[in-house]
Amino acid sequence: MAKNIVSEFDDFSKNYTQDMVGCVPHYLELISSFAKHLPDHFNPKRILDLGCGNGNVTAQLVSRFPNAVYTLLDASSEMIELCSQRFKDYHVNYEQKFFHEFSFEENSYDLVVAGFSIHHCNEKEKQELFQKIHHSLEEGGFFLCSDLMMSKSNPNHPSLLKEWEAFVKTTFSDGQKWTWLMDHYEDFDKPTDYTKQIAWLQDVGFTSIQLPFQEECWVHFQARK
Ligand SMILES: C[S@@+](CC[C@H](N)C(=O)[O-])C[C@H]1O[C@@H](n2cnc3c(N)ncnc32)[C@H](O)[C@@H]1O
Repeated sequence: MAKNIVSEFDDFSKNYTQDMVGCVPHYLELISSFAKHLPDHFNPKRILDLGCGNGNVTAQLVSRFPNAVYTLLDASSEMIELCSQRFKDYHVNYEQKFFHEFSFEENSYDLVVAGFSIHHCNEKEKQELFQKIHHSLEEGGFFLCSDLMMSKSNPNHPSLLKEWEAFVKTTFSDGQKWTWLMDHYEDFDKPTDYTKQIAWLQDVGFTSIQLPFQEECWVHFQARK
């Protein structure tokens, strides 16, 4: 029987960062982008991390914003457990639930972040999520996202797969990790072109959308309310 996304990420949590560094081109640059490109004067008090995983995005933010109140949301209990060990010294609330189960209260956050989690949503879910994120941000707040942003129907998708395979095999040369990754990709990943996502961000009211880091379809975007 096909695994569901929760048990997939419960298992993935065991060696998560090492696997991501070897499987995702530019992973470390895309993660460090969350703390790097915000304006110097921006000092968020309330931060929401959507699909926090083992906390690699929040780990960037706590060093820059140690006094903020964080909400970390993830469907996987194992990932939430890793974060609760990792962020004992900070003010963090945990929500073990799916995005669609979370109540995005109006004007509740100054900063919303999502690292490699939104590609698990289909197009309709992404658009609904962008609307809810916009609603939950204060005026002047930011939504930051790093992800793979090329749809499987994009004409360049076959070349992405070729380059991606070569990248993964530089670390995992026997090919087993690539096979595992492509099974995961087929079952759980629904990436969307960044051009389409930018249009959806504009549709729900985000302004000054920028891509401070981009290597082809590996993108970090910043959108302001
Ligand atoms: C690839 S990991 C990314 C973790 C981390 N943000 C990072 O950048 O390394 C994706 C995470 O999103 C979570 N996730 C995926 N879809 C979700 C959904 N619909 N609701 C809640 N969590 C979700 C998974 O459980 C997983 O921990």
